[in-house]
Amino acid sequence: MIVVQCHFCSEKEKQKVPNFSDISLKYEKDSVVQKSASEILLALLDIQADDNVIDLGCGTGHITKTIRDRTKGQVVGIDPCEGMIEKAKEKWSNHDIAFRRCSAEQLDYTDEFDKIFCNSAFQWFAEPGKALRACYSSLAKNGKMAIQSPARDDYCPNFLQAIELIKQAQETKNIYAGFNSPWFFRNNADEYKMLFEDAGFSVESSTIDRIVTRHSADEVYRIFESGAAAGYLNQDCYDTSLTREYTDTFRRIVRRSFNDQADKTGLVELTFHRIYLVAIKR
Ligand SMILES: C[S@@+](CC[C@H](N)C(=O)[O-])C[C@H]1O[C@@H](n2cnc3c(N)ncnc32)[C@H](O)[C@@H]1O
Repeated sequence: MIVVQCHFCSEKEKQKVPNFSDISLKYEKDSVVQKSASEILLALLDIQADDNVIDLGCGTGHITKTIRDRTKGQVVGIDPCEGMIEKAKEKWSNHDIAFRRCSAEQLDYTDEFDKIFCNSAFQWFAEPGKALRACYSSLAKNGKMAIQSPARDDYCPNFLQAIELIKQAQETKNIYAGFNSPWFFRNNADEYKMLFEDAGFSVESSTIDRIVTRHSADEVYRIFESGAAAGYLNQDCYDTSLTREYTDTFRRIVRRSFNDQADKTGLVELTFHRIYLVAIKR
């Protein structure tokens, strides 16, 4: 039984939007910042032609397919979210990729894999230390793991600017006061490095980059919906009950903030702090 909380397809979300395929399709299209970050991560992981690879927190599997194209070895996509993994299976299973619904913390392989790729998922891990020990066990000797995830408390100043408005608005401030962040962030690269070393890894590199891209306000909103909204608008992250009025107003305020953040050309400078870390099992 999967006991890890899924922030991407809670029961509530499934009831609201019965056709989860639509959400998953939207994820693939809208997750443009995750996708561009994944390209840097793929280069860092340096997958070889016969590597056995895990894509950890694979979501809808479109990046798993990119991994499949780089190796003749075994490729496994892991994700605890039913909606995401079902979409991945539906679309990519016949490309010789095995998809398993399980969390990083529940990985049960021993010395089997050469590489673990983990893009934009680490921040969601409920127990990062446990997950890293399971990853360490899953890798063969000299196996390599690479992660990319948003980092630092100010992981995305644009989103936080919008959240400041949520904290102040009469219609949202009381319910937002009961928000508990589901994310795991550390503020410097050494803290991430230590986590991996505690799980037995040697860390090859660990840096937090500041990545700035330019998008229309609408696109920034879609980027927000493809990731952060799965936390900010998730009932399980609140002490009190969310109302339809709250979620509608929340979305309206966030949209307005992104519009206000646009410059004269109509574009928003979207900033993310991202950890890129590569570790080896010696
Ligand atoms: C933003 S999506 C990233 C998907 C894909 N890796 C990408 O880059 O597009 C984050 C994924 O992490 C998954 N996730 C959340 N908690 C997890 C955990 N404990 N172990 C593994 N994956 C997890 C979510 O279900 C979700 O599919």
